[in-house]
Amino acid sequence: MTEKRKNELELLLNREITTANGITFAEFMQHALYHPEHGYYTSARTRIGKQGDFFTSSSVHSCFGRLIARQLEQMWQLLGQGEFIIAEQGAGEGHLCLDILDALAAEAPEFYARLQYRLVEISPDNRLRQKDVLQRHCAAGLVDWCQLDDLQGMVGCFLSNELIDAFPVHLVEKHGGELREVYVVTKDDGFSDELRPLSTLAIKDYFQLVGIEPGTGNRCEVNLAAGKWMSQIASLLERGFVLTIDYGYLAEELYAPYRHAGTLLCYHQHQTNEDPYQRIGSQDITAHVDFTALQKIGRQQGLDLLYYGQQYQFLMGLGFLELLIEMESREADPQKAQALRMNLKTLILPEGGMGETFKVLIQGKNVGMPELICGKRIRDINIPASAF
Ligand SMILES: C[S@@+](CC[C@H](N)C(=O)[O-])C[C@H]1O[C@@H](n2cnc3c(N)ncnc32)[C@H](O)[C@@H]1O
Repeated sequence: MTEKRKNELELLLNREITTANGITFAEFMQHALYHPEHGYYTSARTRIGKQGDFFTSSSVHSCFGRLIARQLEQMWQLLGQGEFIIAEQGAGEGHLCLDILDALAAEAPEFYARLQYRLVEISPDNRLRQKDVLQRHCAAGLVDWCQLDDLQGMVGCFLSNELIDAFPVHLVEKHGGELREVYVVTKDDGFSDELRPLSTLAIKDYFQLVGIEPGTGNRCEVNLAAGKWMSQIASLLERGFVLTIDYGYLAEELYAPYRHAGTLLCYHQHQTNEDPYQRIGSQDITAHVDFTALQKIGRQQGLDLLYYGQQYQFLMGLGFLELLIEMESREADPQKAQALRMNLKTLILPEGGMGETFKVLIQGKNVGMPELICGKRIRDINIPASAF
């Protein structure tokens, strides 16, 4: 690659990596995604939806937000129906927020009147998109933007969908019984990996916490930022819930011996690749989330585990099937009804859909151990005959 063909971010990284004689992969990923001017998330571009690089559940259909709204309403009831904050971090283009607020305005006006929806967003470009999408609810004084620290003492629910998979991760390999870390170095006018000793002992502590290490020769990701985030959220919350949706596994599955190359994946125009050193700043880089770490760190910080399940179970518990049937029956055009069904199925299907890889974690602080409506078992769902 000649100097001329490198983009601004690649040139900046090249200088920084040369000066530092290598940086950790986590530092590299932080720059690639969040460099203030040229990062994938911070610069102006379409990331989500057909014209972008990937779909998220909230971009698939408004029914995702509509169902989550039902869970939020129950949480509000459990907390005594007073003032309630929904804080959403990493809201992308704001569609989940819009769909939740639209649903609550129509179906739970008393709750709608008592709530404040606060958005925490790192990307200036996404903040603009969110403001545009949320105009109506902003005008009603319901939505504002803040920093995490502004949420100190909050009562309500802290919500995120596909936030943590976008945090920078350390890449680690195990060789000869030793954990080694991937550093990014310059090579032949590009970038490549180099294995070095761990940059921080926090990585060892992490594996001790989750109770498993990668198999010999295997590469894996360690999301230390996720652990810090979980601790911070737990300390900000006075009373209420943390509802986290993302793709990932429990540690046992994430670090299973058969997973040789980890889960790091890049997204560009709906194609995936495993090379984070190409299209730097214009492709997304993600890694699956370790839900064991979130649960254990949460528990250490006073968060009780209230629910953990696959997205399809969560949505079914909230009435996915009933909603699908109701929406389909209101659609007079059979072709449109079929398209609706196919679209909604994406949210629950395992293969090629978001039903299984996506997990939902709900933790509670100072709320006891309530039974949540999302936990309704599938065998208890009354499926109308018209569904078949
Ligand atoms: C994959 S997108 C998810 C979008 C959205 N939740 C949805 O369902 O469509 C990740 C989002 O997290 C934001 N983000 C990443 N790290 C963040 C941080 N530390 N604080 C706030 N927002 C962050 C990104 O800018 C982006 O809006």
